Amino acid sequence: MNVKDFDSLEGGGAWLKYYFEQYFTKYNLKYSKGAEMCAGKGLIGFYLLENNFFETMDFIEVNPIAIPILHETIKKKGLEDRCNVYLSDGFDNPDIPTDYDCIVGNPPWYNNEVYFHSNETHYFVEDNGEIGARTSPELGYMDRDWTFHKRIIKEIPKYTKTLTFVESTFASAPVIWERMLDANQRISRVFNDKHNIPAHTISKFNIPHFSYIFSIDIDESFRRGEPNPKDQS
Ligand SMILES: C[S@@+](CC[C@H](N)C(=O)[O-])C[C@H]1O[C@@H](n2cnc3c(N)ncnc32)[C@H](O)[C@@H]1O
Repeated sequence: MNVKDFDSLEGGGAWLKYYFEQYFTKYNLKYSKGAEMCAGKGLIGFYLLENNFFETMDFIEVNPIAIPILHETIKKKGLEDRCNVYLSDGFDNPDIPTDYDCIVGNPPWYNNEVYFHSNETHYFVEDNGEIGARTSPELGYMDRDWTFHKRIIKEIPKYTKTLTFVESTFASAPVIWERMLDANQRISRVFNDKHNIPAHTISKFNIPHFSYIFSIDIDESFRRGEPNPKDQS
């Protein structure tokens, strides 16, 4: 099986991995145990692991065609003792560990068709000559009504201390995630610096600057099972 054959799993990780690097470098972030949610081929997770931002990296992905590709890449890179792969719809797979330090991800960015079919100047974008048609599967880009984001954000405290997602400024804003938070969660950082992506990658993908990265941190006392002081007054 050839990684290049499966472009339906490529949702921007090939260049967004550099944006994650900018973010991790700017804030001097290093973690021990990590996972990539919505991993696809795992381009972001492998890059962060191999550049020493993490000591271990697991991969979580709902699309079964990604799973053998992830296993094959782990084997090829000799990372068997530092990576695991979980076929899972969000956190549904009960084998997923619950002690991550940070989960990263590039989830589906859009919650409806309006955003997906417009570009930065808000023209409607045709796809294959037909407005409304999409040639790529919805799984890669659509999180209708933010159902997936709501589920993941609710479940963060059970699985990780920090969640760090990349999103599109065309499709969302941090205030949307802020409204989904429980009392024990807070948005610790929002990063929207200009991309510093290698020139050959920029020209290949013709990338405008439209992404931002944000992190949600969990109140540590909550993770230790102590009562939230905000609930006691
Ligand atoms: C925007 S693509 C990102 C793929 C890859 N990480 C990258 O950056 O190129 C979103 C990925 O999320 C996966 N996905 C969608 N819904 C999911 C779910 N409920 N649980 C896990 N993964 C999901 C899709 O199959 C797809 O691979």
